[in-house]
Amino acid sequence: MKYAVIGNPIDHSLSPVMHNANFKALALEHDYEALNIDSNHFHLIKDIITERNLSGFNVTIPHKENIIPYLDEIDEQSKTVGAVNTVSIVDGKWIGYNTDGIGYVEGLKTVYPDLSAAYILILGAGGASKGITNELMKHVNNKITVANRTQSRFDSWKMDINKIDLKDAQKALSEFDIVINTTPLGMNNSNDLVINLDNLSPHTLVSDIVYIPFKTPILKVAEEKGNPIQNGLDMFVNQGAESFKIWTNQSPDYDTMKKAVLNHL
Ligand code: ATR
Repeated sequence: MKYAVIGNPIDHSLSPVMHNANFKALALEHDYEALNIDSNHFHLIKDIITERNLSGFNVTIPHKENIIPYLDEIDEQSKTVGAVNTVSIVDGKWIGYNTDGIGYVEGLKTVYPDLSAAYILILGAGGASKGITNELMKHVNNKITVANRTQSRFDSWKMDINKIDLKDAQKALSEFDIVINTTPLGMNNSNDLVINLDNLSPHTLVSDIVYIPFKTPILKVAEEKGNPIQNGLDMFVNQGAESFKIWTNQSPDYDTMKKAVLNHL
């Protein structure tokens, strides 16, 4: 069977390394490649994928929304988020899923196993935040708080959450057990923090969905304060593991997948 990730740019994607390592560990003769598809050629997506005889593919920036009109079905999570990162092709039918949210939550549970009583603050209200919030709501009893710079971003949110701005998040920070940064601040060598962590409680887990850099500025500051931290590596590996499960109905070799990614960072 053949699989791929489509995106643009895609050269630096670690998905091929991660999935091929898993296939090898499980002695599966599958293959996973990276396909660069620019937006001008996206209308050819059906031909490109069909020509390659793929059984499924992942979708990354900038096509997670573009892919939706080409799908025969999409799951509940993709509908809520408005974006798809996994497509399974079954008897010529294209079915869309979004494994980013479940990937994040599976990763979070490895460091914070019982989420039921946690008070959680999510920074950012974009697509990633929406997927994570929707998935977290299945595990958390307390209302989740989402903080965003631009309040109109919440207009498309149908979930029952507390919606606040970043200033209020900064003030109320001590109330939360888990703080999750879903904004891109801290990528691209910037030292900016989306909020300052002065009011952070000593026990609070600070988490970021980014893993390149391995420690974003918000994680560095939290670590310096002595707080537990988690970067986005487990989310990345778990979203891939969930895609593999959808495609094959098999359990992946998670440790091999994670090691393959770590070896290439
Ligand atoms: P993704 O799909 O990765 O979530 P996105 O949908 O573009 O990406 O969302 C990016 C999020 O980061 C948004 O919440 C955005 O805030 P706005 O809605 O106010 O734009 C947030 N973000 C990006 N740059 C930011 C900055 N400099 N300061 C604060 N928030 C920022």
